Amino acid sequence: MRKPLVVGNWKMNNTLQESLSLIEGLLSNSLPAERDYVVCPPYTGLSLAGKLIKETKIQLGAQNMHFEAKGAYTGEISPLMLKELNVRYVIIGHSERRQFFGETDLKVSKKTLAALNNDLIPIMCVGESLAQREGGFHHKIIKKQLVQGLKLVDSSKASDVVVAYEPVWAIGTGRTATNEQANDMLGFIRTVLTELYGSSISERIRILYGGSVNPSNIDGLMKQPEIDGVLVGGASLKSEEFLKIMTYSDRG
Ligand code: 13P
Repeated sequence: MRKPLVVGNWKMNNTLQESLSLIEGLLSNSLPAERDYVVCPPYTGLSLAGKLIKETKIQLGAQNMHFEAKGAYTGEISPLMLKELNVRYVIIGHSERRQFFGETDLKVSKKTLAALNNDLIPIMCVGESLAQREGGFHHKIIKKQLVQGLKLVDSSKASDVVVAYEPVWAIGTGRTATNEQANDMLGFIRTVLTELYGSSISERIRILYGGSVNPSNIDGLMKQPEIDGVLVGGASLKSEEFLKIMTYSDRG
């Protein structure tokens, strides 16, 4: 019932020339229908990427945005500006933004609401650190991030939110969560979403796993009942690798 979603987060990578060859590579193969595919270039690549993927199965996402429509916020980009470039999805509250750019749960909540109000689909990220997991606090931390991050989102729009669980210790480390760890946490996230919005809404919210996803672990992850899709960093930068992830096998 929930459509699988495969998202590539390019982070601060790819010149225009590199973006061009990456996207050409992605478009060279046919992609299974009934799945959503998104690439999230840096802001400078959005316009070019948008043109290249127009009328293909791949949709455009951004990596961040401000919550205001316009104003004196030097260096920031608004939801309206993203809409102009045919952006459909926006990553909100990635752990790198929380860690390096002072993104708080309150800002995450304002941005998530602003995305929804502007017809953008927010991919709201949550994730615990290694110390928090080893201390056994991971469920508590994730619940707090979810409750605070969704604080401004009422049930009329909640089903459009995408939640991405990205344990910080699995990002860019090659140390992916096991299928069981990922499935367990995504199940927990859905329980929290049910507490917040009731089961008919929470059953419609897509929940992704992210953290060292690659062509070798994608099939196992996507077979987990709670995993609706993946948010991919490093492996989304090479077209052969990302193609293998987008065309994962859901049989067996
Ligand atoms: P990696 O896939 O490189 O671990 O990055 C995950 C991520 O942060 C995607 O948003």
